[in-house]
Amino acid sequence: MSEQIIFDNKQFFEGYKAIRDRETNLNDLLEQPAMKRLLPDLAGKTVLDLGCGYGHNCVDFIEHGAAKVIGIDISKKMLEVAMRKSSHKNIEYINMSMTEIASLPYKFDLVYSSLAFHYIEDFEKLTADIYSLLNDNGCLLFSQDHPITTATADGMGHWNMDENGNRISYTFSNYGQEGKREFHWITDGVINYHRTVGSLITTLAKMGFIIDTVEEPTPKKWAIEKYPIITKEFLKPSFIIVKAKKG
Ligand SMILES: C[S@@+](CC[C@H](N)C(=O)[O-])C[C@H]1O[C@@H](n2cnc3c(N)ncnc32)[C@H](O)[C@@H]1O
Repeated sequence: MSEQIIFDNKQFFEGYKAIRDRETNLNDLLEQPAMKRLLPDLAGKTVLDLGCGYGHNCVDFIEHGAAKVIGIDISKKMLEVAMRKSSHKNIEYINMSMTEIASLPYKFDLVYSSLAFHYIEDFEKLTADIYSLLNDNGCLLFSQDHPITTATADGMGHWNMDENGNRISYTFSNYGQEGKREFHWITDGVINYHRTVGSLITTLAKMGFIIDTVEEPTPKKWAIEKYPIITKEFLKPSFIIVKAKKG
């Protein structure tokens, strides 16, 4: 199975960085605060971060008391930033795909992933691999693009506006047709994989996970004050977050 390494594409890498550097990016206003609220107690724990990107969450786990963190990412360019900006003696960064994690010689108390699972074709294998890497009572916490967002066949649904240019609804399609989507985001040809909410949750449950939380984050007052347009998240969620425990 050949995998796309889109974050190593110069134009994509720089475009993504420009988005993340904006004060009003949805990660910082919406997804990251929700993920942080859901973190389990990390004191003395071991953590695996799948698709760790710049490694800022790996540092955060150490600051929350984690004893050891492994951050893996398929992109060399993302890991170069992680090694430069987010290094710590108890963090190890590995350039590998999360499709290969069954080869890791460690066990973990938390497997974490922020906004990377929609790049993975075989969710069943991924969840099976994660399940076997977790210690008993271990926890999986991940976010990904919301299935309403990934559904439409060209990868992008669209907003509908009123006569004043305000968003009033969102049109999407192809929800029940799972699989590959190729679309334009920063560059042409970005690939991700659409799965329904039912399929995500059922796959986890069948693997033996006990679902703790399924959250479709909506903005808090402070985020709305900073970036009023974010109220669009009450019309259509951008992200889904799942916290599940090893049964
Ligand atoms: C949207 S970024 C999120 C980065 C980081 N988790 C964060 O929250 O800032 C997605 C990351 O997933 C990585 N990624 C995509 N496919 C991957 C794969 N098959 N294995 C490991 N990492 C992957 C990308 O290289 C990128 O760094």
